[in-house]
Amino acid sequence: MKWQVCKDYDSISQKAAELIRDTLIDNNIRSVIGFATGSTPIGTYRKLIEMYESKECDFSNMISVNLDEYIGISQDDAQSYYHFMHENLFDHINIQEENIHLPKPDGNTKDYNAVLDTVGRRNIQILGIGNNGHIAFNEPNEYLNARTSIIDLDESTIQANARFFEKEEDVPKQAISMGIGDILNADLIILLISGKKKQQATQRLYHEKKITTRFPASLLFAHPNVVVLVDEDAFGTIAND
Ligand code: PGA
Repeated sequence: MKWQVCKDYDSISQKAAELIRDTLIDNNIRSVIGFATGSTPIGTYRKLIEMYESKECDFSNMISVNLDEYIGISQDDAQSYYHFMHENLFDHINIQEENIHLPKPDGNTKDYNAVLDTVGRRNIQILGIGNNGHIAFNEPNEYLNARTSIIDLDESTIQANARFFEKEEDVPKQAISMGIGDILNADLIILLISGKKKQQATQRLYHEKKITTRFPASLLFAHPNVVVLVDEDAFGTIAND
């Protein structure tokens, strides 16, 4: 795991976008990029849109897969991750609609695993981390799923996501999420961490020496090519520990 501590959110967003841009240029026939939702990658998506507008980046041969989706809301719902990805990225670049893949809110795990198998290994997987160490919606547990599964969300995740909903009771309690085996099936994993709220999870990941399903991000230690782009707010005082 390579750590790159960047000055601020803008710098981590710029670095992540550049890594994606360079991969698209290197593999201009076909690239597979795994995208994430949540607040953290939004800056990266803005940078990618700017790169598209300035003709630095062409998305016409990019295939996208997303990590997860809420169960029980429609794709048209403003809170769905399908909507999020279109609003924050896909509607503003030249990706082809048939190359866009997200798990469906009907919770059909078999179909999504078939999509992942067809698309194959990703060139890059973008990830965020939850305060509780979750990656995608793989919540701390006695075991973690290898492949796409339906997950009961942790109370802490429901509370963290309530900021996007009018009322906390509107936050879906379940999600469909790629499993750990699926997440690791990428040549490069970019973990984005930003903001003071993530200090605890950042410290734990930085110091953790063991792989434990009670802290899902530690499963990333099993991957040979993970880059953590973290801003100074999230990194905090670790360097002085
Ligand atoms: P965030 O979510 O980017 O909104 O902080 C990350 C996550 O929960 O995985």
